[in-house]
Parts: sequence; C-alpha cells; structure tokens
Amino acid sequence: MSIATTLAVFAAGECPPAWADSGPFTTQQADAGHTLFNNNCAQCHRPDLSGAQGPALTGDQFKAKWGDKTVAELRSYIHENMPKTAPHTLADDKLDPIVAWILQKNGEQGGDKPLTKDSAESAKVAK
Ligand code: HEC
Repeated sequence: MSIATTLAVFAAGECPPAWADSGPFTTQQADAGHTLFNNNCAQCHRPDLSGAQGPALTGDQFKAKWGDKTVAELRSYIHENMPKTAPHTLADDKLDPIVAWILQKNGEQGGDKPLTKDSAESAKVAK
C-alpha cells in the first residue's frame, strides 16, 4: 500500500496502520515504570496488574472504566489517590514512567516521544 492510500484509509476511520499503535511513551520509560510499579503499587495491584486489594489495572473492566478518558485523567487520579497509603507523594519523574508501564501492560507499544504532563492531555488511555 502506498503512503497516500494508507493515509486515506486511516482518515476514513478504518483500521489504523501499525505505526499508529505506538503509545504516548517510550519503552525506556515503561521499563523504569515497571520497577517503580513493583516498589509502589504491586503490593495491592499485583506485579502483573491483575488486582488484589486494589482493582485490576488491565483487562475489560479497567478498559471500560478508563478507555475513553485521557491519559492525563488517569495520571492525575493516580497522583491524587495512589499509592492508597500515601497519595500526593509521586512526583512527575515517577508518575510518568508508572503510567507508561500501565499503558504498556494494556497492550500499547512504546513510541518515540516520552510521556509528559502535557502530552498526556491529548492521549486516550485506550484506542
Ligand atoms: C495499599 C494498597 C494500594 C496501593 C499501594 C496502591 N493502590 Fe491503587 N488502588 C487501591 C484501592 C483499594 C483502589 C480502589 C479505589 C480506592 O479504594 O481508592 C485503587 C485504585 C486504583 C486505580 C483506579 C482503578 C479503577 O478501577 O478505577 C488506579 C489507576 C490505581 N489504583 C493505581 C495505582 C498505582 C499506579 C499505584 C502505585 C503508585 C497504586 N495504585 C498503589 C489500593 C492501592
């Protein structure tokens, strides 16, 4: 398929091309978030995010609740409420990688731009 055809199909609202699956974060960020998640969140949400004391952060229920929201909304929810025992303690340098890890565990691929407070505004949690 030529680039022009690819763009035309994408514009028509059909299946986006593979490169459009890249999430609003880098793989490096998600890797850092993996460690931070295990240290700050996994005791209640499990290392695989399947949920325990806190709800699952992957799967259908999570997507139904958060999929249409912006990454910024998820990010600020986490800042305001999590970790449940110590809300407001995560600074941006930890928050962004943790959110990147959650997005990656929900099937998104790392892209070429890191997640920031600003870029989170224009990204949806699920596509
Ligand atoms: C001490 C246990 C605990 C820890 C640690 C914890 N959480 Fe939670 N989390 C919960 C509980 C319980 C809820 C359900 C909402 C509530 O009770 O506030 C929740 C809810 C959530 C939700 C909303 C889920 C939904 O279905 O809407 C997200 C997102 C989340 N936590 C992310 C995190 C992240 C990220 C961390 C680490 C920075 C973290 N949590 C650490 C217990 C915890």
